This record gives sequence, structure tokens and C-alpha cells, in this order.
Amino acid sequence: MENNPVIQTILDHKSIRKYTDESPSDEVIETIVRAGQRAPFSIQLYSVILSRNKENPWKAPLLFTICVDSHKFERIMAERNWKLVTNDLTMMLFGIQDAVLMAENMVIAGRSLGLGSCFLAAIGRAEKIADDYNLPKRVFPLVQLAMGYPAENPPTRPRYPLEFTLFENEYPKLDQDTISRAMKEMDDGFLAQDFYRHFNYKVRLEKGRKETFTFDNYSWTEHVSRKWGQWYSEPNYLLRQFEKRGFYITGKRPKLFPVTLRDFCYLIRKVVVATLGLSAIVT
Ligand SMILES: Cc1cc2nc3c(=O)[nH]c(=O)nc-3n(C[C@H](O)[C@H](O)[C@H](O)COP(=O)(O)O)c2cc1C
Repeated sequence: MENNPVIQTILDHKSIRKYTDESPSDEVIETIVRAGQRAPFSIQLYSVILSRNKENPWKAPLLFTICVDSHKFERIMAERNWKLVTNDLTMMLFGIQDAVLMAENMVIAGRSLGLGSCFLAAIGRAEKIADDYNLPKRVFPLVQLAMGYPAENPPTRPRYPLEFTLFENEYPKLDQDTISRAMKEMDDGFLAQDFYRHFNYKVRLEKGRKETFTFDNYSWTEHVSRKWGQWYSEPNYLLRQFEKRGFYITGKRPKLFPVTLRDFCYLIRKVVVATLGLSAIVT
């Protein structure tokens, strides 16, 4: 495999969940965000809110909230006398791509300057984050990124084998051995680090399912299967979070009036007909 300082910085990535009290300088912060901005973009549909109040699970000195931002783009369109007609599902997908490419550039830039970082899922907390930062409508807080100087140096975490990730020319038929090798790579890797024992965390089993795993065999594939086999089965809560931020992902906007104009006219006609006894001539 080839190597150079850039590749090595990327290969050394590990999420950091313990930070020193040292505050990165404004110059360091500016460098990281400018590096983020150099990511390829579709429409630069993002904004980043920085908070230095250390109110985050790891008391990291910096917390970036990476938002999908259509608000400021629509302001630019308005200056050009255009109105956005593209549906919100399309805008959100482009926005997510723009925002995450930027965020990962920030992770790598931070690491190259000696900082560690860890993403924090924001999905489900959109309303609260929007209140905290006074986000206008059409700005959706996608993910948060805690950053600072590391006070821990964990090993790098495992990844799927290359054979389970890179497929040339066509998607292969995945045989049992390939699946088992990929699972083993992930599970053995996390077990070797005692990852879940360290955080004392197993995803709780719901619906009366009995726990049969201990920290000796609970690992990544069980962890993610439990999460995505039990959580968020219905989309309405998340769709509401989008709606509250002014994004109508399904294309349906809530009706301003519970009855449409056509329903209203029909109702009036019925009343008039009934009142005047015109049913014989007006049907
Ligand atoms: C979108 C996203 C959300 C994440 N949310 C959390 C989180 O809420 N808490 C956490 O401890 N780690 C979170 N992570 C970090 C992942 O758990 C971590 O990247 C993964 O376990 C791989 O470990 P590594 O980054 O050390 O290689 C998140 C990562 C991503 C990309």
C-alpha cells in the first residue's frame, strides 16, 4: 500500500471521546473550517455553527453543528429573481452530501493539526438544536462534530475487509464465507479493544427478548443489528423534525385549511340548494 503524510493522517483516524482543556486558537479553527470548505460541493448547501461552551457529552472545547442550509441559498436565488422549485427530498439529499463532505474534510484537517474529533448524531434533536442556535427555517442541523486536543489515544477501530467494500465492474454474489470474514473482522477487532465493556454499553433488547450476550461476545455486528433491528421503524417523527425546519421531504405540505376550496364551494352549494329548495334544478 502507498503511504505519505496525507494518507497516514487519514489512516490514523480514530474518534476521540476525551479532551484536554486546551482551547484551539481562532487561527486553528479558521484553518479547519476553510479546509472543510475546500470539499467538493453541489451547491454549498451548508452552514457550520461553532459553540465553545463545552456543553457536549465529552466536554470538548469545540462543538461544530453542521447544518444543511437552503435558507441562504434561497436568499441568493431571490436576488437573482428566482424561486426554488426543486423538491425538498432532492435538496436534502444534495445538502447532506455537501455537508458531510465538508465535515469529513474538517475531521482530517483537524487531525493533521493534532486535534481529535468525534461526530455526534443530531438526527432527532433537530428542534432543540434549532432553538439553541436560533436557526431560521430551511436550515436543518444534520450532525455535530466535537473537536479538541485529545486526552486519550485509542487504537484505530476496525473496518470491513477490502473484499467486502470494493467490487470491480459488478456487484458479486456474496457467499457465506465472505459475510463471515467481514463479521469476524469487525467483531474480533472491537472485542480486542474491549470497546463495549469500556463504555459499559449494550443496546437494550426490547419486546421481552432475553439477553444472552456478555461483554466477552457482544460486539459490533450484534450492536448495530440491535440498533437497526429495533429503533426508528416509523418515519413520522423524523419527517416532523424536517417539517418543523421547513423541509417537506414527502412533497406534501400540511393544509392551511382542513377543507380545500373545491370542498368549500361544494359545501356552500349544498347549503344554498337546501335553503332555496333548488335541488330539482341544481344537482
Ligand atoms: C453520522 C455519525 C454519527 C455518529 N454519532 C456518534 C454518537 O452519537 N456518539 C458517539 O460516541 N460516536 C458517534 N459517531 C462515531 C462513530 O461511532 C465512529 O466513527 C465509529 O464507531 C468508527 O470509529 P472511529 O471513528 O474511531 O474509526 C458517529 C459517527 C457518524 C459518522
